[in-house]
Amino acid sequence: MHQTQSTVWKIAELRSEVIGIDTKVPLLDGTERRYVFLDNAASTPTFKSVLKCVEEFLPWYSGVHRGMGLKAVVATNVYDETHRIAGEFVGADLVSNSVLFGKNTTESINKLAKRFNFSPNDVVICTVMEHHSNDLPWRKYAKVVHTAIRPDGGVDLDDLKRTLEIYKGRVKLVAVSGASNVTGICNPIHDIAEWAHSAGAKIFVDAAQLAPHRAIDILPNRAAKHIDFIAYSAHKIYAPFGIGVLVGPTEFFAKGEPDMVGGGTVSYVGTDDVEWGSLPQKEEAGSPNVVGAVALAEALTVLRTVGMEAIAGHERTLLEYAIPRMQKLPGVRIYGPTEDLTNKMGVIPFTVDGLDHALVATILSAEGGIGVRNGNFCAQPYMRKLLNVTPEEEKSRRAARCDNPILPGMVRVSFGCYTNEDDIDIFVDMLERIVKREYKGKYSVDPSTGMYMTDGYGVNAAKHFRFFNPAGASVAGEEVA
Ligand code: ALA
Repeated sequence: MHQTQSTVWKIAELRSEVIGIDTKVPLLDGTERRYVFLDNAASTPTFKSVLKCVEEFLPWYSGVHRGMGLKAVVATNVYDETHRIAGEFVGADLVSNSVLFGKNTTESINKLAKRFNFSPNDVVICTVMEHHSNDLPWRKYAKVVHTAIRPDGGVDLDDLKRTLEIYKGRVKLVAVSGASNVTGICNPIHDIAEWAHSAGAKIFVDAAQLAPHRAIDILPNRAAKHIDFIAYSAHKIYAPFGIGVLVGPTEFFAKGEPDMVGGGTVSYVGTDDVEWGSLPQKEEAGSPNVVGAVALAEALTVLRTVGMEAIAGHERTLLEYAIPRMQKLPGVRIYGPTEDLTNKMGVIPFTVDGLDHALVATILSAEGGIGVRNGNFCAQPYMRKLLNVTPEEEKSRRAARCDNPILPGMVRVSFGCYTNEDDIDIFVDMLERIVKREYKGKYSVDPSTGMYMTDGYGVNAAKHFRFFNPAGASVAGEEVA
């Protein structure tokens, strides 16, 4: 295979590395503008070098761990190497730990929850901050106890310690996010690990939001502050090609049956008995996503050469730039920390007094060409706490639900390592127009979905990408000429 020299990237160069950074989108007034993407917490765009690396690899693509052909051997070696790169990115000691690929963090957590072999009496401690993906999988197999949230949105660490004490002997696992996808608050995962270990429990860290923003070191397995299990996703780290990473002790995954069985997981199959294969193949049933793994490995290599400290510093600068500007706008309420930003990554959730979150997000898109997320961000319990939704209000909204309950929510802007002050200026200018009710469009809500429609403007996906038949395109709506 052609060997390219690894580039040493600098953070300032990353913007020109982003595919789609200059994509133009139509606005309600008939003009076009560069799309301003401020929804990086949902999913990030792709680095050019990632795509280039995939293109370099594709001529060598072959199924792995199966064939003796030269390409199969090369691809197998490459695929094995991607596991090393993904493990080293979180500081894993790869003698004692295995790196398992799936499709995303959610799948990794579901795998781990199933593989834990909980007894019905076992307790998993979560926090109210968790994304649904770090809460619902545990509920399937164990009793989940949620620890409280402080008024500033942070995890109530005293309550967490109390909960560990109350359930001592029953707690098998503390499952906590490295950073919140809603407020960007980073948790003291190593302290929590130490408390969990003292209580005889293990710790799992959902690093989907942390990994793209901060250096992670899970520490040696014997260390009191060691992170036992950790998961993260490629699609949030500039390689959206369908890979999720789960790292955990080899001895844990070596025991017992894999959660999915089939091709690749075995060393011997008789008609009545099976011997499981070695890791990671045992836990990666079927033909794996080799191309996705290559993409991830390249993205991680870019970030490592830039340095996670530089990325964290850049984000801090963006937060310090954006928050005071947003705070100047009357009626804009920001949730989570706004003063001490030490343990916060580049995510700002907010509401605008008197305006529905979905309306604000729709105006930002139709009149500003700005992509944000609104709603509950897959963290409904946390959202209700942050918004002080009373149990009565919660009950009445649930009773009124049709197909899609219109829940209280927020708008969220989230930064990538390539976001710049110009992006923030465009967003804050548009937000100011919204706050002053100087937006131009006429918007009406569909009460069954909570989605807003804009008079004279709709997104016609067929104008931007193929795959649509003419009927499908007309259903999608017509953009302004
Ligand atoms: N969990 C992702 C988000 O926060 C999808 O948007």
